[in-house]
Amino acid sequence: MATTVQDLAAMAGEEPITMLTAYDAPTAAIVDEADVDVILVGDSMGNAVLGYDSTLPVTVDEMQSRTAAVARATEDAMVVADMPFLSYGVDEADAIEHCGTMLKEADANAVKLESGPHTVELTQRLVELGIPVMAHLGLTPQRVNQLGGYFRQGTDEESASEMLELAKAHEEAGAFSLVLEHVPANVASQITDAIDIPTIGIGAGPDTDGQVLVLNDIMGLSDRSPYFSEQFADVKSEMERAITGFRDAVESGEFPAEAHSYSEDEIDDIY
Ligand code: KIV
Repeated sequence: MATTVQDLAAMAGEEPITMLTAYDAPTAAIVDEADVDVILVGDSMGNAVLGYDSTLPVTVDEMQSRTAAVARATEDAMVVADMPFLSYGVDEADAIEHCGTMLKEADANAVKLESGPHTVELTQRLVELGIPVMAHLGLTPQRVNQLGGYFRQGTDEESASEMLELAKAHEEAGAFSLVLEHVPANVASQITDAIDIPTIGIGAGPDTDGQVLVLNDIMGLSDRSPYFSEQFADVKSEMERAITGFRDAVESGEFPAEAHSYSEDEIDDIY
């Protein structure tokens, strides 16, 4: 059985929860084998793998296809599908259908919604129907056009206490976990103390119950990554080495060598 919502609840405050994004089967398999607790099929795929400038164009079909690929390659981690912009929050029946599809067709274990006052009732309804919901407060990148950029949120007392109230409302609505993105560490710490469900931070300091980062950022595959991320390897240089190695070997005639070729002795002239 994959990591469950109960497993995450038991880890909160006891041992750090780890979550990473993945968007395809081979990388999901590596993340899973590394014993990361949760794989988020983030709508950050818009920037990370689909070549968009933001997460806004990501579609339900793209999310479903990528989530299914990740789920096929994952044995132990919880797989969470990140619901695309406007796939929820417009019409309840559509939202339920889109979220349900991630569990029914793509084999996700849960969905994540960028949360706000508009997602409290929806969270409750989805949970009633058996769809586990991860909430997400702080910087919610689907609102980039309203926010004017990817800025830190909850930076004054009023907005920080609004965030706390929304965190409590989503906990009460049945969310099993809460992502806190790009918020002051002391705000994330107080929200973590005030609710029982696990908080998972990104740019939210050390006091959340877990940490999440975007896989491309930690691997060194992103052109730009936020200051609160950390590059743990230089996979881009390794890819460049492999690709230029292939090109050079073909151009110089070194590839394919005898070991890569086979000739059929039984065949004489075929023309
Ligand atoms: O889409 C994403 O990758 C996310 C994480 C940054 C939390 O929402």
